[in-house]
Amino acid sequence: MNVVLIGFMASGKTSVGRRVAKRLGYRFLDTDHLIESEQNRTISDIFAAEGEPHFRALETDLLRRLTHYDNYVFSTGGGIITTTGNLELLRGVGVVVFLKADTEDILRRLEHDKRRPKVQGGDLRTKVTTLLGERLPLYEQADLVIETLGKTPNQVAGE
Ligand code: S3P
Repeated sequence: MNVVLIGFMASGKTSVGRRVAKRLGYRFLDTDHLIESEQNRTISDIFAAEGEPHFRALETDLLRRLTHYDNYVFSTGGGIITTTGNLELLRGVGVVVFLKADTEDILRRLEHDKRRPKVQGGDLRTKVTTLLGERLPLYEQADLVIETLGKTPNQVAGE
């Protein structure tokens, strides 16, 4: 059995994922980190050199391979659900859990972000609300939805 955490950027997938893995005695892996180590460069570099579609192709390629893992908790990149077919692939990997963070919390956490290409330049609030609007209906298709507002990573992991 595996657990797959999905959700918007900065919604706590990595910190919660590590804690869930510890509690279950599972291993933890983050798809963004896996892609960066396999490619030996950062996601920003991949976006800059080859564009988002190439990154999405790498993401889907990785996702197909995750079905061979067992007893893992995976945290995934916030846009993974935007590629058609990935939700089905995620379901094939494990129980899909959406960490539903509050928009203001997300904005606060992304305010000084220099790492995530999807939120660089332009008005952060507009970018985040637009992306959230597009993505929420996809995230909501998870097997389980957990609201994170006002909860510590430990509390969310417990749920
Ligand atoms: C992205 C989210 C990032 C990373 C990439 C694209 C997105 O992951 O995959 O920068 O489109 O939302 P996090 O959700 O871990 O920040």
